[in-house]
Amino acid sequence: TPRVFSGIQPSGDLHLGNYLGAIRRFVPLQQSHETIYCVVDMHAITVWQEPNQLRRATREVAAAFIAAGIDPQKSIIFNQSQVVQHAELAWVFNCIARMGWMARMTQFKDKAGKNSENVSLGLFAYPSLMAADILLYKATHVPVGDDQKQHLELTRDIATKFNNDYRAAIGAEGLEPDFFPITEPLIAGPATRIMSLRDGTKKMSKSDPSDQSRISLLDDADAIAKKIKRATTDAAELPNAVEGLSDRPEADNLVGIFAALSDQSKADVLAEFGGQGWGKFKPALAELAVSVLAPMADEMRRLLDDLETIDAVLRDGAERARVIAEDTMTEVRRIVGFIR
Ligand code: TYM
Repeated sequence: TPRVFSGIQPSGDLHLGNYLGAIRRFVPLQQSHETIYCVVDMHAITVWQEPNQLRRATREVAAAFIAAGIDPQKSIIFNQSQVVQHAELAWVFNCIARMGWMARMTQFKDKAGKNSENVSLGLFAYPSLMAADILLYKATHVPVGDDQKQHLELTRDIATKFNNDYRAAIGAEGLEPDFFPITEPLIAGPATRIMSLRDGTKKMSKSDPSDQSRISLLDDADAIAKKIKRATTDAAELPNAVEGLSDRPEADNLVGIFAALSDQSKADVLAEFGGQGWGKFKPALAELAVSVLAPMADEMRRLLDDLETIDAVLRDGAERARVIAEDTMTEVRRIVGFIR
């Protein structure tokens, strides 16, 4: 059966990029796939997280999953640290992956900056834990935003090297030669890379110092509308076709957001708004964004009022995840030669 896995870090406020690039796309996959959605708290602590803040953010991601339409009965929703097999498989992968592979990761280079001697060892090994998340469940498909592409290529490299290095042992244990699947990234649609509302050349991100650069999932209707009305744009009217967006990053971004929020293509949006000015388009976008996001924010707040229920969802999800994870680890321990 095709199985989907994806993860979100509880490392700050969730924003529109996380929603359109990932969470919103998780929902329809529940109809066609077995789906596992994880709050990756162990990834979050690769950079310092205040413990109370980490707990708050973990529950907030879980609430966003549910408020967006992920059904905790149908899907498995859990936080990573409750299933210790993630850490166990990550260690094996640390011994499969090469230093050079990790050193090439652009996200590591961006986060470490010039001071790479002084970042955590965990930040360097981050992609190895991510490969463990995915391969522990032998997931075949991983829906993510465009910024995770390189990490998913590395996941495929780790799976391939493990399958090759241990080919004889995998055979001797009577297991399938393609023990770990070569996972397919699902990076598609008009919102794989949502940009800052202030600067169309920068990704919308949790770490941008300007609050005006992003729409947070807990923003109220007023804040959402204001941020969209103040979003940086050029002065020209909207083009009639997608090609007309090619050197207009801000326009491309806002049209992409409209398309994703209304489940249309950018071409559909331009068929409606081509030739019109921002004075028409921005209020329509603000109204659409509020109509989608405000009810979701209300539902998140309602869920976050009852921590016991949220924690029970995570605990139940972890129990179900652990069953699959332990099956894989039992095989991995035998393959590697660990005595039990
Ligand atoms: P994270 O927590 O940074 O982001 C969560 C998801 O949101 C997507 N995303 C965006 N999509 C479009 N536009 C943006 N501006 C934008 N910003 C973020 C991300 O691509 C991601 O899909 N390493 C992962 C978490 C992770 C994971 C995994 C993902 C850990 N293990 C296993 C998939 C499978 C991360 O840092 O995502």
